[in-house]
Formats: sequence, structure tokens, C-alpha cells
Amino acid sequence: MKLSFTLGPFKAGLFAEKENKKVIIYLPESNMLDTLKKAGKENFNNSEEDKKRLKAYIEKRSTSSFWKDDPGYLFIKKYLPEGEISLIDIGCNVGNLPFYLKAENLWNRISYMGTDLLPVFVELAAEALPEGVFFVSDIQEDVIEESFDVVLTKGTIISTFDPIKSLKNVLSVPSKQTMLIHTAISDEVTSGEKFYNILVTDKDNIYTSSVLSKKAFFEEVKAFGFSVKEMNKRPGKVEVQNKGVYHLYDFVLEKKD
Ligand SMILES: C[S@@+](CC[C@H](N)C(=O)[O-])C[C@H]1O[C@@H](n2cnc3c(N)ncnc32)[C@H](O)[C@@H]1O
Repeated sequence: MKLSFTLGPFKAGLFAEKENKKVIIYLPESNMLDTLKKAGKENFNNSEEDKKRLKAYIEKRSTSSFWKDDPGYLFIKKYLPEGEISLIDIGCNVGNLPFYLKAENLWNRISYMGTDLLPVFVELAAEALPEGVFFVSDIQEDVIEESFDVVLTKGTIISTFDPIKSLKNVLSVPSKQTMLIHTAISDEVTSGEKFYNILVTDKDNIYTSSVLSKKAFFEEVKAFGFSVKEMNKRPGKVEVQNKGVYHLYDFVLEKKD
């Protein structure tokens, strides 16, 4: 039974690759690892070849405005608190946010810490930014106890298999302000379901992602004592085959004393 569920989306994914377009499919059993294994993607970014590609990306990043089409960065710039702040970037990848903050002259007033699940990202980020502090952690499973002025996560919660567990762990990091950038939320999630998983295939890649139920998302925000200070519901909706649509949101959440 499980096999037919995973083969279904995978075959559809290969078909989409041929057609050169992006296809997003609902994964009914949340068997994301199996699906990635079938695509040969479960060790993504571990090979020497991947490392070379990432290094080339870091090189290119320092000479280009890689953020110019990303509304998330505009949102961060607009709502980042004034003055000297400590900030943790959860799902920091190869240190994209620090590069953006430097380009916008915001870096010098920030005491920065970055963390990611994948050691290769952390290693390359630390190499490129010796002045930052980086460590490996899994936001779905690990609790971060240190406190920060700002907790920021951009596109990370939706990259985890259980975004509710990840959201809870992000909201539990002690802070007055939490910025959730690039968060996938749907109000079409059927009763009782707190999230669902999807498989995305485009011409370059195949990867899994998650969509939060709007109701479950706001329940968690409230349960952790946060209120929404700023919210951007991005224009456009994303269509998921066999499921419905979701929207991308950016949030500033605030905790009152
Ligand atoms: C879509 S990328 C976004 C990267 C970066 N925040 C940016 O905006 O450029 C998602 C990142 O989350 C990381 N990630 C995925 N699952 C994670 C987990 N369980 N714990 C920590 N990081 C995770 C991935 O390795 C990846 O670097």
C-alpha cells in the first residue's frame, strides 16, 4: 500500500520534470523519506559534487543581489527592530541572511547565530562568515534554550516533515520577537488535520515541503503567548494537486511581558 502511494507522486514528479514545469502534489501518507529515497535525494548535499556546487553558489552570491526577487527579505528589512540586537537564524543554510544584512548595512549592529540541520551548510556558512556563530541542530527535535532579541526563521518550518513540532520549537526559543518568514498556510485543511506534506518537482529539483493548517497555526501562536504584530499574506496562491491551495505568509510575532 505504502509503495503505491510513494510511486504515484514520484512518477508524476518525473513527468513534470520532462514537461519543464513546477508540479506540487499532496503526499497522503507523509512518507516523505521514502519518496526522496526513490528520487535518490535522501543524502542531498552530502557529496563532494554538491559541496562544489554550494561553494560556487557562495562565490556568486557575493557578487549578485540574490535577494532582489524575494519578498521575505523586504519584510525582514522593514520590521527588524532598531538598535543592537541578538538574533538567531533557524535554518540558516549557507548563511544567506548575513550576506543580505551586510549588503543592507544592518550587519554591524547584530549579534548573529545561525543553525541548520545539514552539517555541510553550517560548515560552509562558518567558512564564509568567520565573525558569525554557527551550529548544527534539528528544529523539529531540538530545544534551543538560549534567549535572543529576535528569533528568525525563513523557509525552514515548511521544509520540515512535521511543521507543527518545528513551529512549537521555534516559538519556545525565549524571545520578545519572532519572525516567521515564508510560511505556508492553508485554510482548506480538513477537520482535525494540523498540517500536510507535499512533493514539489520542477525542472531542476525534487523536494518535499509542508503546509500548516491556518487554525492550528494560530492556536500555537496563541498558546505560546505571542500575538501577531505584522503580517504579510503574499499575493498569489499555490495550487496543490488533490488537495487545494495554500498561501505564503510572513509574520512578526510579539510577546508582551
Ligand atoms: C528553503 S531553505 C531556506 C534557507 C534560508 N533560511 C534562506 O532563506 O535562504 C530551508 C533550510 O532549512 C533547513 N532545514 C530543513 N529542515 C531542518 C530542520 N529540521 N532543522 C533545522 N534546519 C532545517 C534546510 O537545510 C535549509 O537550509
